[in-house]
Amino acid sequence: MTIAESYVEFATREARGVSPAYERLSLAVSRDDELLALLGALPRGKRQPNLLFGVVRLLGGPVDDPAAFRDFALANWPAIEAELRTRATQTNEPGRCAVLLPVLAALPQPLALLEVGASAGLCLYPDRYAYRYGDHALGAGEPVLGCAATGLAPPDRLPEVVWRAGLDLNPLRVTEPADVAWLDALIWPEHTHRRARLRAAAAVAASDPPLLVRGDLVDDLPALAARAPAGATLVVFHTSVLYQVPAPRRAAFADAVRGLPGHWISNESPDVLPHDALPEPPDEALYNVLALDGRPLAWTSPHGQAMTWFG
Ligand SMILES: C[S@@+](CC[C@H](N)C(=O)[O-])C[C@H]1O[C@@H](n2cnc3c(N)ncnc32)[C@H](O)[C@@H]1O
Repeated sequence: MTIAESYVEFATREARGVSPAYERLSLAVSRDDELLALLGALPRGKRQPNLLFGVVRLLGGPVDDPAAFRDFALANWPAIEAELRTRATQTNEPGRCAVLLPVLAALPQPLALLEVGASAGLCLYPDRYAYRYGDHALGAGEPVLGCAATGLAPPDRLPEVVWRAGLDLNPLRVTEPADVAWLDALIWPEHTHRRARLRAAAAVAASDPPLLVRGDLVDDLPALAARAPAGATLVVFHTSVLYQVPAPRRAAFADAVRGLPGHWISNESPDVLPHDALPEPPDEALYNVLALDGRPLAWTSPHGQAMTWFG
């Protein structure tokens, strides 16, 4: 796929109906030879729309008007390029806890949670957030994570978590304002509810920061898993991570996690792990597959806002 095609795909499959500003910007970039040439000089993994738009937002640039965005990008390209080369998309979406919760709540309690690709670790607090599945409410306080759940009875209890640890190539700290600013810049412009959710979840995490280890999800998983306490169910999980990992390493990770005691929950796009036949997704939008120990269970929306359980 060319860079222009990837920007058209982002506009039509990811941003359309979700972020009109990013849909406009992405289509404008796809037709802009000058910006495409600048992006083409970057390594392949540094050209994506999400990364470019997040960096421009971080630097205070405009993202609501394609012409103003273009002027800013061309005038500030050295600074933008420097950020693109060092940063990665690390969107940390606590809303994804709403799709993990039905599985976590059904496992033998208490749980020792180990998240790979944890970013700032905001998905390590499923027991501390409140939830709303249609009319069914669970938990108290903020944030309240809403999820339209189809085909399953929503959970009636929160999990009991006695240990939480995250592994990431570049862990972010909720106690570091610069890291929180980057997480904020990665949230799409119109998503004020997600920005409020990030702040509320960051406050929860900052009051009891998780153990976050810098490392690779294959090489460093066994050592971190060995630190989990005895007497708790070890749950290794990941959401929206494996698309950033090369295919041979994904296979090595699946082997490594299968060799551990406990359970494995994945919430990833359907193409990154081998699954036998999956049912048709609910519509044309992008969905993740939620799976327990490799067995697919549900289609889930990218930010945890909906899930459709397989029959
Ligand atoms: C898109 S973010 C998702 C964060 C979090 N799982 C969530 O759903 O909110 C993907 C994260 O995976 C991390 N990551 C990518 N490749 C990794 C690897 N090989 N080992 C550990 N972490 C990795 C990135 O640094 C990034 O923080």
